[in-house]
Parts: sequence; C-alpha cells; structure tokens
Amino acid sequence: MAAAPAPNPAYGALTDQGKSTNIVWHHSTVTRESRAHQRGHRSAILWFTGLSGSGKSTLANAVNSALFEQGLACYVLDGDNIRHGLCTDLGFSDADRVENIRRIGEVAKLFLDAGVVVLTAFVSPFQADRERVRALVPAGDFIEIHCAADLSVCEERDTKGLYAKARAGVIKEFTGISSPYEAPESPELRVDTGHAELEGCVAQVLSFLDANGIIPAAS
Ligand code: ADX
Repeated sequence: MAAAPAPNPAYGALTDQGKSTNIVWHHSTVTRESRAHQRGHRSAILWFTGLSGSGKSTLANAVNSALFEQGLACYVLDGDNIRHGLCTDLGFSDADRVENIRRIGEVAKLFLDAGVVVLTAFVSPFQADRERVRALVPAGDFIEIHCAADLSVCEERDTKGLYAKARAGVIKEFTGISSPYEAPESPELRVDTGHAELEGCVAQVLSFLDANGIIPAAS
C-alpha cells in the first residue's frame, strides 16, 4: 500500500474564496431548531468511512431502516450512487476524492440544517477531508463511524470484483491497493464490520445515538 500522500494542492484551492461575488446569505425563517422541535428529534451527520467492501453501505442502510421505522427523518448518501449524479465528473485521483468529499460535506450540512439524520457511506480515505467536514458543522453533529474491516477481509469478500481488477492493474488508484486509506485515529465509533454480524453492528450504532440524545429517549 502506498504511503500517505503529501499535502494535497487541492486543499489550498478549496480554502480560497469562492468565485462568486456579490452574494448575500439569506437566513431561513424556519430554523433547524424549529424543525427539530416539530419532528421530535435532532439532526446529525453519521459519517461511515472504510475500505471498499468494508460494509459501509450495508450498515448505513440498515441503520437508516431502523431510524425510519422509529419515525425519524433520515437519508443515506452513498458513494457509488452519488458518483452516478452529483459527482459524475469525478474520478479517483487524490484531488477528485478531495472534491468528492468536499461536495458531500456541503450536502450533508444542508441535510443537517433540514433537520434530517443524514448517513454518508463514502470511502473518504483522507483524514484531512473528514476533519474538514467535521469543522463545517457544530461540535457533536458530525459522528465519525469507522467500518473497521481489514483489507484482507474486504479483498476476500470482493463483492464487486474490484479488488481482483485492482490487483491485476486494470483499476488504478484503488483504495488499499494502490491508493492509501487513512483510518480514523479517534472516531466517535469503531465498528468491527469485518467480523461482527450486521445486527450487532446496527445495535452498536443505535446505542451510541441513544446515549447521545439523537434518538428520542422515548423510542
Ligand atoms: S471516495 O474515495 O471518493 O470517498 P467513494 O466512496 O465516492 O470514494 O467511491 C468508492 C466506490 O467506488 C467503491 O465502493 C467502489 O465500488 C468504487 N470504486 C471504483 N474505483 C475505485 C477506486 N479506484 N478506489 C476506490 N473505490 C473505487
């Protein structure tokens, strides 16, 4: 596996002022607080990160179903799906991954403001990108969940057949093989999606949400 990349030039560009000028921020009269009050629960970003095949989408969707069953407003943003639309212009170079996560961070922030529990399932391999999203929102609203499955397990699963292609050199810049994955050092939650049953992983996430007041206590 390649070493962690040097500071990415794309970070600098992204911290510059935007290109639009003469724009004014409009505050909505319906606030995040009023939405939370009406719905009976607060919003949050549940940021699932991990290697391809680590179970991010499976876990995020299972948690989403559980939250939906409990009547919460919730939505999954999934890497493969988003790359079919919003991020169809992006590939897997470091700079494109940075831009991919920047966009998703901004979209997730909008969902947060809309009062929705948004679950994101992206490899999001770079710590700096994840930290930048965390810094976009108030403390406690970004919950980083590491889907901690070893590369050997993901490669053994190879559900999409991508690892075999990456090993054969057919797919370049593949996370874990020819592009780095920086595991979170102190995520809010680390889930053993490599070995634990899905049900147990879902329970672990729900119990965290319960303990942190995201799921209403009554449920
Ligand atoms: S990220 O690195 O920018 O966060 P993202 O989560 O959107 O990646 O997309 C990852 C998904 O794209 C993987 O689950 C896999 O199905 C597919 N994919 C295709 N090529 C690659 C690649 N080179 N590296 C990682 N994933 C890839």
